Amino acid sequence: MKILSVASEVFPLIKTGGLADVAGALPIALAGRGMQMRTLMPGYPAVMQRLGTVEVVATFDDLLGEPARILATMHEGLDILVLDAPGFYDRPGGPYTDATGKDFVDNWRRFAALSFAGAEIARGVLPDWQPDLVHAHDWQAAMTPVYMRYTGLQHIPTIITVHNLAFQGQFGADIFPDLGLPPEAFTVEGLEYYGDVGFLKGGLRTAWSITTVSPTYAHEIATPEYGMGLEGLINARAPDLVGLVNGIDTAVWNPETDTHIARTYAAGSLKQRAVNRQALAERFSLVQDAGPIFCVVSRLTWQKGIDLIAETADWIVEQGGKLAVLGSGDQGLEGALLAAASRHRGRIGIVIGYNEPLSHLMQAGADAILIPSRFEPCGLTQLYGLRYGCVPIVARTGGLADTVIDANEAALSARVATGFQFTPINAEGLQHALRRAFKAYNEPKVWARIQNQGMKSDVSWENSAAHYADLYSSLLSRV
Ligand code: ADP
Ligand code: GLC
Repeated sequence: MKILSVASEVFPLIKTGGLADVAGALPIALAGRGMQMRTLMPGYPAVMQRLGTVEVVATFDDLLGEPARILATMHEGLDILVLDAPGFYDRPGGPYTDATGKDFVDNWRRFAALSFAGAEIARGVLPDWQPDLVHAHDWQAAMTPVYMRYTGLQHIPTIITVHNLAFQGQFGADIFPDLGLPPEAFTVEGLEYYGDVGFLKGGLRTAWSITTVSPTYAHEIATPEYGMGLEGLINARAPDLVGLVNGIDTAVWNPETDTHIARTYAAGSLKQRAVNRQALAERFSLVQDAGPIFCVVSRLTWQKGIDLIAETADWIVEQGGKLAVLGSGDQGLEGALLAAASRHRGRIGIVIGYNEPLSHLMQAGADAILIPSRFEPCGLTQLYGLRYGCVPIVARTGGLADTVIDANEAALSARVATGFQFTPINAEGLQHALRRAFKAYNEPKVWARIQNQGMKSDVSWENSAAHYADLYSSLLSRV
């Protein structure tokens, strides 16, 4: 089976969050099941610099206003199709924002172009390869099924995966004429969304099937609390919606072979973690005492509940804990954490920025990872935590609820507990979970059991890849 995946970021070429990890790992997991997935992504400068040998497989004189080419290349086992369109992508900044962090004003055109190119590949623009099915990720690729639906390709199955409903790609109606779509695409059956153009809305309306990245989030987004205005549409499409929890790349995230950490270890040699713990404490200038080190590796945003971390930081220190935070994002939250660190030198350390190797050391060295997200479609850092014996302490929402087994009395005595969950999602809820975590930490046998149980959890892609493969097959059988 030939599948085209369309995504705006793909690890290891470019990453701002979990989407990249998923887009980079799923093709590898599927390859073992006889599925060939090629991935179309934009040619940002960071991507272009990393490409080895490329072959030009398609050219467009005018792709929504710019000349463009599609380059084919293999990169670390991934079969990549790069949309090389300098007018759209060759500029300083990140994938979505300029160097000052502001969204590019022409993002609608940049990602409509990506989706347009995806639809053209589905049409057969590549000389020797045409997909049986197209799988688009998030709003940046959501126009792919829209273009397919309105340009005569509705017979090819399409899937849209929602990684985060908070980002919808909503733009003024004035862009519609430039999208190159027939007028009927601008109706409630297509792109029209409260008078605007909604990229994700259009994708949710037109794709054959909708997936999201955990069963709990699939239920949540059908409610007004989490639906972000799209709950009506999501309810209407409930028969075509499924929640499939993400896996992680267990070759990249493997404490037995990880080259980013100070000492490799396995479930049977947890004592070796102490070397990583010490390296972590040094990196964050934390005192070396017995109290637990809690870490945070995250975008610093309201979604991730980072304000709850800031609010709880003094209390954690009072209880004898330490805090190591790696992340960047909201300036107010960065400021609040930096202030906490300067109040508690040696007890709280912050590294502002994005640092992939350091994120591995944190999972390998910290005792627990805090994830107090207000909503979390799946979440990957709790999965890394499970695999690394870094006990996840998580809000009970979305994928966090689905992947961590709370260390309540029953789970502890049944020896199935893998972490701590809390609700309500506020500072008191977090403190309550932390109190339980401190207690467990002070009973080394109990703590080690939770760590071991976590390390035994299946966080690989195996299960989910099988579900995606079944979904692809069932859609193809409808053709
Ligand atoms: P989201 O995609 O919503 O940000 P996920 O938990 O799905 O959340 O994925 C976040 C990914 O980004 C994880 O792989 C995490 O380790 C990584 N990450 C987040 N912040 C940083 C950072 N400051 N440095 C390195 N990696 C980070
Ligand atoms: C989004 C979500 C996150 C999820 C990731 C990968 O960024 O916020 O919860 O893990 O996508 O699916």
